[in-house]
Amino acid sequence: MKKSNEKDSDTPVVEEIRQRTDEYRVLHEVAQILHKAGGLQEMLIQVLTVLTRFQELEVENKAGIFLADEQKKVLRLLCTIGDFTQEFMEKEQEIPYGNCLCGQAAVSGEMIISNNCFSDSRHENRFKDMTAHGHYIVPLKSGEQLVGVLFLYTDENPPWYCRSKEILMSIGGLIGDAIVSRRREEDIIRKNQELHELNDVKNKFLGIASHDLRNPLYMIRTFSEALIEGVGGNTTPKQLDLLQKVFNASNFMMNLLENLLDVSKIESGKINLKKKLQDLNALVKEQIEMNQHLAERKNIILAVQQTDLPAVSFDSGAISQVISNFITNAIKFSPENTAITVKTNLEEGRTRFSVSDQGPGLSDEDQKLLFKEFQTLSAKPTGGEKSTGLGLAIARKLIHLHDGEIGAKSKLNQGSEFYFYLPLENLSAESKS
Ligand SMILES: Nc1ncnc2c1ncn2[C@@H]1O[C@H](COP(=O)(O)OP(=O)(O)OP(=O)(O)O)[C@@H](O)[C@H]1O
Ligand SMILES: [Mg+2]
Repeated sequence: MKKSNEKDSDTPVVEEIRQRTDEYRVLHEVAQILHKAGGLQEMLIQVLTVLTRFQELEVENKAGIFLADEQKKVLRLLCTIGDFTQEFMEKEQEIPYGNCLCGQAAVSGEMIISNNCFSDSRHENRFKDMTAHGHYIVPLKSGEQLVGVLFLYTDENPPWYCRSKEILMSIGGLIGDAIVSRRREEDIIRKNQELHELNDVKNKFLGIASHDLRNPLYMIRTFSEALIEGVGGNTTPKQLDLLQKVFNASNFMMNLLENLLDVSKIESGKINLKKKLQDLNALVKEQIEMNQHLAERKNIILAVQQTDLPAVSFDSGAISQVISNFITNAIKFSPENTAITVKTNLEEGRTRFSVSDQGPGLSDEDQKLLFKEFQTLSAKPTGGEKSTGLGLAIARKLIHLHDGEIGAKSKLNQGSEFYFYLPLENLSAESKS
């Protein structure tokens, strides 16, 4: 039923069109504000300002928003616009669900229209200098979840706008959704920050642990090697066998520690790359020579196809490490009597390096995990070689530090190709300087 003081809804068509246009304008303005980046409070103050200027509602320039604490069942004042007394600001900081008009809207989830604060028994809270006023009280909901309550002040017994409920409840829903998504974003940012901090702690720990373990381990490896070589006198075959085991284990651990130190250095940004323009082909040749004996042990042919390349900017230690890991992997995971092709060429303005093998290849599942830390995948070393699962993760980080790209192409049982690209742009930048 229409209230006695409700505006007459039988307005002429032109008036109705004007009203609707105004409604759409307000909705649009509110939606635009809610989509902008920035602090929640600042955003909601802008929304309140737009609402107090919405002619049809005839509200005063006085409004505010409470946020709901569903666990404690209280509303907490987040922001206001207009003049409120100090007493109001102090007493209304936190109100329980069910208390006064806003608390009641929080419980019912329904919008409340109140004609006069003095005659409306639901308006429980009184203040010293309170003057007669009316209210629109709008629950802010995201779906069924109560997020807060918005209140707008009017004159006492104002000419209530006939479509206020539809329009204010829609705006309440928009605000509710915006608050929820803003909270989620803040949550993600906070969690991300925490993860970064944890990662820093992990890297520091990793760095300290690996560094302090390296010296004693180095001694174990060196001394066991010396004993194997007979420095301490003759050894029985049994002693030799045990010493060989000590040497192998310490060698593996040294390798693991070096890798862990690399990861921690790269991740904490402490790696100091010394990039300079140089010949990638020369580095590739060096690495092939170094790994030739490993290939020969498995009767694997290491074929090379090199194209003339312009000088490229890179850190030779870092790129040697990547090339070496690609080549040793190909040897490690391939069966005997196969061939490996190491190739360099220019492609789409970049330098490309690749290693192709006739090994076991990679399943689609394995390909998703490649280049992540500690991934020792389905392919296992075919000649008892060691595997820590860190080589490719380090390679990816090093190539990215060179603004390059790294990847692998493979099908299960059909061999693999591991490749990286280094940009040539660096060339012009550096040669100019
Ligand atoms: N050429 C390849 N063919 C098939 N599988 C491969 C090949 N290269 C790598 N892989 C798979 O990817 C995994 C990760 O390789 P990665 O180089 O990171 O570690 P790793 O060689 O096992 O140990 P390391 O840390 O000593 O390099 C390997 O354990 C292997 O399962
Ligand atoms: Mg490896």
